[in-house]
Amino acid sequence: MAVPAQFIDELMARCDIADVVADYVPLTRKGGSLWGCCPFHSERTPSFHVVPERQMYKCFGCGKGGGVINFIMEIENLSYPDAVRFLAKRAGLQVPEERGDGGFRKKRERLLSLNKEAARYFHSVLHSPAGQAGVEYLFGKRKLSKATVTRFGLGMAPEGWDKLITAMAAKGYEKGELLEAGLVVRSKEGRVYDRFRNRVMFPIIDLRGDVIGFGGRVLDDSTPKYLNSPDTPVFNKGRNLFALNIAKRTRLGRIILTEGYMDTLSLHQAGFDCAVASLGTALTPDHAQLLSRYTKEVVIAYDGDGAGVSAAQRAIGLLEKTGMKVRVLRMKGAKDPDEFIGKYGPEAFAKLLDQSENHIEYRIDQVKGKYDLTDDAQRVEFLKEAVPILAQLPSPAEREIYGARCAEMAGVTAEVVAQEVKRERSRLSWKAKKQQERRDLTPAVQLQPKERALRYDNLRSARAEEGVLRLVILDPELFGSTAALDPEHFSAPLLGKVFRLLRERWTNGLTVSLAALAGELEPTEMSHLSGVLTQPESLQNGARAMRDYIEIIETEAEKRRLAGESDELLAMQKKLLEKKAYGG
Ligand code: UTP
Ligand code: MN
Repeated sequence: MAVPAQFIDELMARCDIADVVADYVPLTRKGGSLWGCCPFHSERTPSFHVVPERQMYKCFGCGKGGGVINFIMEIENLSYPDAVRFLAKRAGLQVPEERGDGGFRKKRERLLSLNKEAARYFHSVLHSPAGQAGVEYLFGKRKLSKATVTRFGLGMAPEGWDKLITAMAAKGYEKGELLEAGLVVRSKEGRVYDRFRNRVMFPIIDLRGDVIGFGGRVLDDSTPKYLNSPDTPVFNKGRNLFALNIAKRTRLGRIILTEGYMDTLSLHQAGFDCAVASLGTALTPDHAQLLSRYTKEVVIAYDGDGAGVSAAQRAIGLLEKTGMKVRVLRMKGAKDPDEFIGKYGPEAFAKLLDQSENHIEYRIDQVKGKYDLTDDAQRVEFLKEAVPILAQLPSPAEREIYGARCAEMAGVTAEVVAQEVKRERSRLSWKAKKQQERRDLTPAVQLQPKERALRYDNLRSARAEEGVLRLVILDPELFGSTAALDPEHFSAPLLGKVFRLLRERWTNGLTVSLAALAGELEPTEMSHLSGVLTQPESLQNGARAMRDYIEIIETEAEKRRLAGESDELLAMQKKLLEKKAYGG
């Protein structure tokens, strides 16, 4: 995005990181910095650290860190340009008009405001005589409360073919726009009519709070039961989840993934404000990625029927890939969470949730499905695959119960399985111990970036490079003594790049702040750097320290250059020798 650097500077000046973070996370002051529980992973003791002096945050638990723009990108799930707009709005600033896709943005905004008007309209119908049937359905039949209906902005699309068209025309929206928003349909004869008629309406709201689409349910048994907005320039089913805008702020530490709008609404009403639903599609890798930004644990609460079970199997794989913990909830006596809560109440559901401790049964079932257990050889293979799963279970009771179950499936005694599991566990703990020992022996690893791609090749130089960055951030005047330092001589390309960018800012009279580089660095790079820059560095003798650091960097760079040269020499020599050998 072509937002001028000066504007970013002004934005940063107006958006103090402590203020912005405090909107999301309660912070307590300790010394010069602020601490709170990290909003990006679940924890009980605060490891989330905000340093107002450097305008940075850093979580010592999950490693996330950056400046105020990174914080908004992360917590609101926004792209860099959107995060800038978000903060600008908050600070009452106008983002200077960008070049490029201005037209597309205008259209997007227009469609979003049309959707918002449509949602308002559907909601208002509920308060009118035309909405009587909807009121009876939502409150009477589905037992939703007024608070739930208001919170989710539920509404009613009245009977008729052009009610919405007329209402939106009064607000200045044309049929073409309604078509593009998926709110109307064009018949073969070219007539345009309302897509949603005589249905209760569920607005789908994205993470920014914009209405991007709708789901509509019939009031009786006619079909299709649910109708959803088609994909439009502002709506993509595979990338959005119903109610994530609310669930993303849950304090329950997990997200419950359901199949349906009504399941999610019932759960929220019952106090589980962490429920979301996919929008009439199977879970996609994008969905999984999205969820992993907000939680470390997903509980799958799909329907209990065959389709639900196989959808859950698929979802487990996708969710696990992102590193989240996955649990599966099993319901008895009801087909879906909505029905379960209606029949047995919220406490019973909370119990189910606790019982969904792990998805071990699912995993064992999956392994079981791969083998023919009437065949001796395959029974052995089955056990070989089941034992490592069992060995990873933390509680002895679980290992015993599931171990016995696997033993039964394989037709062996429980003792045999227990023994195999024990052996596997001691193998695992030996491996873990060895790994720890190796780590203890090489403390340098502690200083390495978490991301493999950012690993330092030359630790001695990298530490000096980190020191240089800390110094110039603390006292930009020290740039004055770095004229001879070439960013190309940094051993860590990322640190060299940051040095170059910061020095450019200094030369152009801009603030020397890492937080201002959010647009030029990847979030993982930013997380690493925020750790580097929140480490202590003394300014006493800053000029001296700078000279020492520069000397280390230049010496190490020189060594690398010589090593490269000698490689070249060796190669040349080898070539000459070869030539000789062939009698050239
Ligand atoms: P279900 O048929 O399981 O409905 O569809 P439900 O959630 O139990 O709904 P109620 O309780 O009868 O009202 C689950 C989800 O699949 C999508 C919808 O997103 C629905 O919430 N779906 C279902 C459709 O998109 N179209 C349909 O015709 C049916
Ligand atoms: Mn249902």
